[in-house]
Amino acid sequence: HAATAAAGKTRDAFSSSFGVLAATLGSAVGLGNIWKFPYVTGANGGAGFLVIYLLATLLVGLPVMISEIMLGRKAKSDAVTTLRTLAPAGQPWWLIGAFGVVAAFLIMAFYTEVAAWVFAYVFKALRGDILSSSPAVTSAAFKGLISDPVQSLLWQWGVLLLIGGILLFGVAKGIEAVTKKLMPLLFVLLLVIGARSLTLPGAAQGLSFLFTPDWSKISGEVVLVAMGLAFFKLSIGMGTMITYGSYFRDDQNIPATTLRVMSADLFVSMLAGIAIFPAVFSFGFQPGAGPALLFITIPAVFASMPFGHVFMVLFFVLAAVAATGAMLSLLEVPVSVMVGRFGISRARATLLNLLLLGLIGSSCALSNSVLADVKLFGMTFFDLFDYLTSNVLLPLGGIFICLFVAWVWGKQKMMEALSNHGVLDNGKIVKGLHGLLKLVTPLLILLVMFKGLGLI
Ligand code: PHE
Repeated sequence: HAATAAAGKTRDAFSSSFGVLAATLGSAVGLGNIWKFPYVTGANGGAGFLVIYLLATLLVGLPVMISEIMLGRKAKSDAVTTLRTLAPAGQPWWLIGAFGVVAAFLIMAFYTEVAAWVFAYVFKALRGDILSSSPAVTSAAFKGLISDPVQSLLWQWGVLLLIGGILLFGVAKGIEAVTKKLMPLLFVLLLVIGARSLTLPGAAQGLSFLFTPDWSKISGEVVLVAMGLAFFKLSIGMGTMITYGSYFRDDQNIPATTLRVMSADLFVSMLAGIAIFPAVFSFGFQPGAGPALLFITIPAVFASMPFGHVFMVLFFVLAAVAATGAMLSLLEVPVSVMVGRFGISRARATLLNLLLLGLIGSSCALSNSVLADVKLFGMTFFDLFDYLTSNVLLPLGGIFICLFVAWVWGKQKMMEALSNHGVLDNGKIVKGLHGLLKLVTPLLILLVMFKGLGLI
């Protein structure tokens, strides 16, 4: 896609408004929808969590996402340089970008491991040996994979090599084109799986878990996790959307595009939820199974449908494609900063990042085997990086983005940037947005963080 096409000297923009939408969606939609959304929703009580997640997406996610894309398009640069150019001289707002690089790294460390499981499952699905509707069997199969240090490491390195290959051989544009075509297929497949899941005996219980709130399960931490999911899902708070914004065309309507990406992203997550939760209750899985949820539940759905074997292969291939799009956008943050700030070549920056990731990422690959007992704050590396990025680093990044846009940049510049210099009538939107960014959104994030982390 255009982001990686910046390999050349000129910084080219996405060529059409559908291109912008598809590329931004390519970053947002990923394992967050099919793996993380179901597992955190399951672990945090279902429907009540979902309501809070929706609220967080609207009140926090949307304003921050619009802001990031706006800044990126204005400065047309990487995350660090963007803040450096747009901020008054001498003020350290570029630190938002620097922390974003750290967050991108920590996310990649565990994300590549989940992607590794997905790739491994493509092969397992091909062999057909995990097709079972017994929780004991599918759980054992998953456990066998993640507790094997050699397999976990090799699959992760395979993922890193693949990403490296895509970037180094400059085929990212081709990959984007493929992703664009395959994404609708993922929608359709999720619909098919959802239909099967909904017609399983006892499916209603899953639906009521997903849509009938039980408010007694809501706590400060649950609210924080819901907000963290909103950040993670929309790829915000760490510079990805700043970087992607830099490839937006000047005549693109930013708020409208953002709204579309957000809606499509929510739609995919809901489909994933509808595919998984009825099956959870029908077959007797535990909704709170954690990161394993997708991998142990979905084979059971396939086991109970005609051509399940074929559908399962297809599902994990499409999940792998979606994960790849998201990983490319994650890696784009450190790579573009290195190229933009230190002037090293894209190829070198990519290699350097992948090497570092091989090192740091292995701590996550081994979190369920040799490093299972190494815990910080009571969590394995995998869980820690997952928790820390969504619930601390991304929200912090979000707070500072809000403050920068509302207080330093100001309403006038927002108006120019979002109305495309008076071409679009976005006046009301800018007013509302500015109001949110000034106090409501940053205070809300701060409050939720403090309460969720038990600091107040
Ligand atoms: N939004 C992606 C997903 O849900 C993950 C992601 C987070 C990608 C942050 C880029 C930046 O899978």
